[in-house]
Amino acid sequence: MKKYSVAVVGVGMVGIEMLRVLKERNFPLGELRIFARSARDIDVDGENYAVKTITPESFKDIDIALFAGTEGEKGAAVRFAPQAIKSGAIVIDNGGDFRLRSDVPLVVPEVNPGAIKRHKGLIANPNCTTIQMVLALNEIYKRFGLEQIILSSFQAVSGAGKKAVEELWEETKEAAARRTPHAARQKINTDISSEKRGAWSVKRGAPQLAFNAIPQIGSFGEQGYTTEEWKTVKETHKIFEDSSIRITSTCVRVPVFVSHSEAIYFKTKKNTCLKEIEEVLKRSEGVVFFKDPQDFPLPLGTQGKDEVFVGRLREDPFNKDCFWLWCVSDNLRKGAALNAVQIAELICSVRGETSDKDLDAQH
Ligand SMILES: NC(=O)c1ccc[n+]([C@@H]2O[C@H](COP(=O)([O-])OP(=O)(O)OC[C@H]3O[C@@H](n4cnc5c(N)ncnc54)[C@H](OP(=O)(O)O)[C@@H]3O)[C@@H](O)[C@H]2O)c1
Repeated sequence: MKKYSVAVVGVGMVGIEMLRVLKERNFPLGELRIFARSARDIDVDGENYAVKTITPESFKDIDIALFAGTEGEKGAAVRFAPQAIKSGAIVIDNGGDFRLRSDVPLVVPEVNPGAIKRHKGLIANPNCTTIQMVLALNEIYKRFGLEQIILSSFQAVSGAGKKAVEELWEETKEAAARRTPHAARQKINTDISSEKRGAWSVKRGAPQLAFNAIPQIGSFGEQGYTTEEWKTVKETHKIFEDSSIRITSTCVRVPVFVSHSEAIYFKTKKNTCLKEIEEVLKRSEGVVFFKDPQDFPLPLGTQGKDEVFVGRLREDPFNKDCFWLWCVSDNLRKGAALNAVQIAELICSVRGETSDKDLDAQH
């Protein structure tokens, strides 16, 4: 079996999970190189990995480069992907910088695997919130079409990287020690019990994560929607290759460590019924469907799992062909690391079927 030299860029929440997923799935690894801003040894589940400092020369003889580095607002791929591609690597990027570019396929392997064939050296992993939503709706879309999606997301703090995870632990410990929901470090913008109540605003600083719910992920963009909310719209349109779906969302950060939860309301194009939607969900690849409405998936139960878990399917009693779903998935697995490694596996399978010359032509 052909083996592939792989580079992993970034060893934060997503990069570490990538190392786990590569190992668990027995990815046909030749050489594995790991890069971050600074060199050190790291331990992942009892196994030692050497991390090197990234340089433009890091990608020599690398077949596949999995990027999971955050550089300020941008991903590390902005700076290093061009060199990696020039060295002959195929880049799979977790960041949001290239996803909407017309020459960059945006791929969820169960949904649009064929799109990878159009790559020119770079393939983008969609946003975690988008991935679990399109996977939950994929077969419903293919069978009945979708006219509208209204999404409310309840997103885990690990989605904002390792610093946010540390912050949630610290705030929780501080607040618990003081027996108040307020952590001392966040006094200004959580003190809503005093005369500041009227003036309280997230503009005064980053709001406390612990014991809170924050309806802002990313920065504010067009029409008062956040960048995260626009990602769920534009990325879904691109993945389904259908911008006629009317999508609108509210994305909320909640004090959960891992796994995003989503309340998804959708209207199908064709007439259907609850029974048919149930049957489709039962057969959907990568989806685990909870039929009993009183038995539903939770973030704590889905951490470390690969699938997208769907439950609480209900009809809108007032509007025909409209339904609700509750959808939970590990944002670091299917929302990031697993999806990226599945794309890498697709590349390997394409390589198996085509000659190196064909692949060079795709590049
Ligand atoms: N977390 C999620 O659920 C999620 C989901 C989907 C997509 N993503 C995307 O995945 C990427 C990584 O997210 P994360 O949550 O893992 O972030 P993170 O926990 O903050 O970790 C970031 C990692 O990137 C490394 N890094 C930063 N700048 C770099 C550079 N110039 N060159 C090489 N490495 C660099 C850091 O290196 P040091 O360790 O040396 O500082 C660190 O290891 C981001 O683009 C994010 O938007 C995240």
